[in-house]
Amino acid sequence: DDDIVILGIETSCDDTAAAIVRSDGEILSQVVSSQEELLARYGGVAPKMAAEAHSLVIDQVVKQALENANMEENDLSAVAVTIGPGLSLCLGVGVRKARQVAGKFTLPIIGIHHMEAHALVARLVEKELKFPFLVLLISGGHNLLILARDLGHYVQLGTTIDDAIGEAYDKIARWLGLDMRKGGGAALEELAHEGDSDSIKFSVPMKQHKDCNFSYAGLKTQVRLAIESSNINMSDPISSASCLDRASRANIAASFQRVAVLHLEERCERAVKWALNIEPSIKHLVVSGGVASNQYVRTRLDHVARKNDLQLVCPPPSLCTDNGVMIAWTGIEHFRLGRFEIPPPACEPKDSV
Ligand code: KG4
Ligand code: ZN
Repeated sequence: DDDIVILGIETSCDDTAAAIVRSDGEILSQVVSSQEELLARYGGVAPKMAAEAHSLVIDQVVKQALENANMEENDLSAVAVTIGPGLSLCLGVGVRKARQVAGKFTLPIIGIHHMEAHALVARLVEKELKFPFLVLLISGGHNLLILARDLGHYVQLGTTIDDAIGEAYDKIARWLGLDMRKGGGAALEELAHEGDSDSIKFSVPMKQHKDCNFSYAGLKTQVRLAIESSNINMSDPISSASCLDRASRANIAASFQRVAVLHLEERCERAVKWALNIEPSIKHLVVSGGVASNQYVRTRLDHVARKNDLQLVCPPPSLCTDNGVMIAWTGIEHFRLGRFEIPPPACEPKDSV
């Protein structure tokens, strides 16, 4: 069992990533090529452009992953690739590459759910993490509270009814004119350090809903209005914010972050109670996805976990944001249980786009 070696490929959004992982948890290589320059320039992911950017680098990223691990295709046990959710044009680039790599030696292919991978990579990080456990997934596209009862057996306790928290961080960072090249979320977190988080009283979303769902659209609007009201002549957050000094922008960032994370804390508190009702043996709270690389988020949720006698498992930032390791690792989890496909040779594409 400890000799399973899997190549993981991830192209669902704006990062082209590949990694090779062994079933004892050893990461043999890890390569990420990100499109942050493109994102900063165009203000978001345009599917066609993103897919082209993936196509340009995918061969090199996979080649590098094999080289860094000192391996060739036939040293692999299987190839794992993200098949959703994500932009279909982008997913296609990864899937074609996976088929090409696997086709050469008829290796098994394992199709991976991106969000499952964000959750399960916590089991690579923390060997003591056994099912069942509670998971909070926070990324650019998703806000999910999941009770992971067993591999492939997930109960959704809550989801977002509009925007995900990462989307709110990104949009507000843009409005505040921050440097998007390092990522909107990271830039906003940095600015928030300088601000007073009690300076603006934003209200916590969904207080009246006694469930585990999330909503960030209303908070985003509260922040937009706060920025605009700083300049009564402009009803455009970007031009309004450009009139603000750094201290005022830092106060907005810090106040937003406090309430955005308070919303996570409140939902998690309730989810812990719901989850313990279904599975009293839960010992861990996993927090993963890009936003989980935020230090303030980690600290606050660690507090929630401790208060409820749970241990927080939060992967290091490089494994929280999109990466190939989580895809390879989730591939290993499925492979161990015999959940994979060997594609018929007819599926082999002629080349990779
Ligand atoms: O998981 P991920 O890499 O991609 C998706 O699956 O969406 O998450 C990306 C999201 C982006 O919205 C990004 O701004 C956010 O994670 N993010 C952060 C931080 N680092 C990345 N948000 C807040 N604080 C951070 N330090
Ligand atoms: Zn992700």
